[in-house]
Amino acid sequence: MGIRFDYNNVLDAAVGREHGLTLKQLEGLSKQAARLHETYIRKIRESGKIGFFDLPYDKALANRVNKLAREIRGNCDTFVVLGIGGSALGPICVHTALRHYYHNFDSAARGKDPRLFVVDNSDPELIASLLDIIDLKKTVFNVISKSGTTPETMTQFMVFFEQVASKLGKAGIAKRFVATTDESKGFLRRLADEYGLATLPIPDNVGGRFSEMTAVGLLPAAVSGVNINQLLAGAAEMDKACSNPNLMQNPAYLNAAIHYLLDTKKGKSISVMMPYSNALRDIADWYRQLWAESLGKKFDQKGNIIHAGQTPVKALGATDQHSQVQLYAEGPNDKIINFIEVENFRRKCSIPKVFKSLPELDFMTGSDMGQLLNYELAATEFALTQANRPNVRFTIDKVTPQNIGGLLYLFEVQTAFAGGLYGIDAFDQPGVEEGKKATNALMGRGTKADKEKSRQVAQYLKGKKIKPVQC
Ligand code: PA5
Repeated sequence: MGIRFDYNNVLDAAVGREHGLTLKQLEGLSKQAARLHETYIRKIRESGKIGFFDLPYDKALANRVNKLAREIRGNCDTFVVLGIGGSALGPICVHTALRHYYHNFDSAARGKDPRLFVVDNSDPELIASLLDIIDLKKTVFNVISKSGTTPETMTQFMVFFEQVASKLGKAGIAKRFVATTDESKGFLRRLADEYGLATLPIPDNVGGRFSEMTAVGLLPAAVSGVNINQLLAGAAEMDKACSNPNLMQNPAYLNAAIHYLLDTKKGKSISVMMPYSNALRDIADWYRQLWAESLGKKFDQKGNIIHAGQTPVKALGATDQHSQVQLYAEGPNDKIINFIEVENFRRKCSIPKVFKSLPELDFMTGSDMGQLLNYELAATEFALTQANRPNVRFTIDKVTPQNIGGLLYLFEVQTAFAGGLYGIDAFDQPGVEEGKKATNALMGRGTKADKEKSRQVAQYLKGKKIKPVQC
């Protein structure tokens, strides 16, 4: 696998005793890790309770997705994903990583691949603006919702459905919409059946934020020209490394243990994900949801109140060196920083010697921008380590579908294992569900519970004692 994990800079030898971990401390977790591997990870995997582990091996699904993707590609110039959270962030990050950076802007850059847009908000300006620039006759919409009831996604579906029905007639519907949802439950499934939409399943045992390698992520990727077989092969390869019960040899378990120990023993309550690559910038966004929703939990598995979780922060190197790094270096020492380095960029951009009148700039010339970016990473890592700020580095040899599949898989296993260390359920999201219920209630859904919820929210809004400051 073309991925390396360097954890030197979380050790006391690099960042001092107060902020760093001793090797003994890390290795001390080995027994617990081996136990968790047997009694937790293997159990949830082999019982089929948690399904993401085995997704890389689902060849039948990959074939089905590739077939549907070929049909869709012959039928559109634009592919629009309607989804939110786990039904949007995976498709976005894979697209940014593996397609031309300006894919949607330039037909030469994207070749025969359709444009891809992901509508992941209820913002009316976002939706109206998209309608301004797409041709409904040449667009396919992929409605993605596991529950099939999420208000943001279902309302988007209604808006675009009405547009297509009124402009292309009801007959156009089945050609223009594809649904990715639960096999049998939810409103989206019912509507898909009613209107004869092509559908792809989201397995019951795979939660939204772990679903990139289900049809949720695979269809948008395949439609926009990503080789999903290679993506899955990379994840399968990473599965080997991440199935090792030995903590010190399993990168996912090891980084989970590092985060857990730094959080609980050293007060590092923030996890920064900072790739030095624009192609990887949205991986930080995807990771942010994965880490936050999975680990941010009030109760442990025994029902004790523990308020677990680290706050994930996304950053981009070198851009955020000029925005965040001052804080990381000199502000509260409450973070662990995850750098991602790309060894070989897919494109070259050498820095030419053009300003003869200014020899002071000569030292910057002659090398490649990729070299400069990696020096910036090395320099930032050095400076943060000097300031006793714990950090780890993932190095990927090149941005390829295999490496992206591998990296995402690694972070998923890391998150599942961290859930085991914290003793929480990493696979539910009661806090999100609560917000969904309140939104539905405010929108006027009429069950008894909704009415009560709506009354509570209205009372809360009215109950604010201090008037807002008029600006
Ligand atoms: O990870 C999760 O479970 C959530 O972020 C969901 O993906 C998100 O709330 C969207 O849910 P659904 O796919 O049911 O529309």
